Amino acid sequence: MKILETRRLILRTLRPDDLDDLFALYRDPEIRRYFPDGTLTREQTREELDWFVGGGDPDHPRLGLWATLDKETGRFIGRCGLIPWGIDGRDEVEVAYLLAKDHWRQGLGGEITQALLHYGFKELGLSRLIALIDPENQASIRTAEKAGLRFERRIEHEGMRCSLYAIATPVR
Ligand SMILES: CC(C)(COP(=O)(O)OP(=O)(O)OC[C@H]1O[C@@H](n2cnc3c(N)ncnc32)[C@H](O)[C@@H]1OP(=O)(O)O)[C@@H](O)C(=O)NCCC(=O)NCCS
Repeated sequence: MKILETRRLILRTLRPDDLDDLFALYRDPEIRRYFPDGTLTREQTREELDWFVGGGDPDHPRLGLWATLDKETGRFIGRCGLIPWGIDGRDEVEVAYLLAKDHWRQGLGGEITQALLHYGFKELGLSRLIALIDPENQASIRTAEKAGLRFERRIEHEGMRCSLYAIATPVR
């Protein structure tokens, strides 16, 4: 099922047959450099994939990670989405993005982040979105800041010290 479309990308729900493509990204140490759990095995990738194929968090059925396809080639080039968390007693939704290396630095991270913010605010009616970023992850920080997210505070999240960036819905 298609979730959203940008100029160059399509986001659709993940499928079981995305395993090889997803694992090709998750096994790569450079792509997974700033993730607390680092690279994943094929089995760990399958577990995560199964969770999202099964609908993800039952309390938040419209959130999740989605396959990110290059419109021109149809290639699976990443997984991006909106992930629910409880942080310091507050319900938060994280904008998540991860792309194949050969697609970095072509403006796609920015394109997808803009589209996810629009989807979260306009389609889902969310009032605030966040990004949880390793303070060393310059690519992610820049991508978040360019889309309008601002540094709010440092937190400890899932065993990782990270920076919380946030953006509130534009005034309606
Ligand atoms: C984060 C990520 C999605 C960015 O994607 P991208 O398509 O390269 O981003 P864009 O081309 O839209 O660039 C957005 C901004 O970030 C900057 N940027 C991108 N990579 C950068 C890097 N390695 N170092 C510094 N700045 C970087 C770009 O220059 C651009 O800013 P500018 O317009 O002011 O020059 C990509 O690097 C990625 O998949 N990384 C691995 C997974 C990851 O760490 N995800 C985030 C977890 S919090």
